[in-house]
Amino acid sequence: MLAPVIAPSILSANFACLGAEVDAVLAAGADWIHIDVMDNHYVPVLTIGPLVCKALRKHGVTAPIDVHLMVDPVDRLVPEFAEAGATWISFHPEASRHVDRTIRLIRESGCRPGLVLNPATPLSWLDHTLEQIDLLLLMSVNPGFAGQQFIAPVFGKLREARQRIDASGRELRLEIDGGVKLDNIGAIAGAGADAFVAGSAIFGAKDYAATIRAMRAAIARKA
Ligand code: DX5
Ligand code: ZN
Repeated sequence: MLAPVIAPSILSANFACLGAEVDAVLAAGADWIHIDVMDNHYVPVLTIGPLVCKALRKHGVTAPIDVHLMVDPVDRLVPEFAEAGATWISFHPEASRHVDRTIRLIRESGCRPGLVLNPATPLSWLDHTLEQIDLLLLMSVNPGFAGQQFIAPVFGKLREARQRIDASGRELRLEIDGGVKLDNIGAIAGAGADAFVAGSAIFGAKDYAATIRAMRAAIARKA
């Protein structure tokens, strides 16, 4: 299994000092920075676009940037985020007319493609995409908001996804997003995730480093 990755979602950061917030979580031990892009169409919220990603790169952020697109349509934004410095670009298959084309577009743009499945979106989306993607992101809340509760049946889906990934022999990241907290991250790791998005649990904590350290310990215990 790949080494675990902690990816704070900047959705819960203080936007009035975003560069300092990102510097702080990276100094506290975060591995990736997760950017939630919402368009007031695929989800009923409007957040941030490629300019913010670009500004973080210009600010000096060198860590991988994990862009989670909750937008419909998808394709027009892919080259813009690639140009803005994204490392990973993930999208929801329901939001793209031509899923294989979008995956290829992400790779051709120089980024690593990921597919995001909502809690009720079946793993069968992997049937014809697993060989093409580098990351599978399972949503453990319905997309759109920070601070929601982890949807428990996603544990079974995670285990199933882990089996499919292992059986494929591919080095595919299995990421989880939504309601990840200190008290469930170990069990989530036990179910097979190796990349952990956490927004409110990290940015809502007083001590980022202590929180990330405790998360890593729970991941290692898998409980
Ligand atoms: C939800 C977003 C998440 C969100 C997670 O649509 O994709 O990344 O920021 O927030 P928490 O960790 O607070 O559930
Ligand atoms: Zn996200």
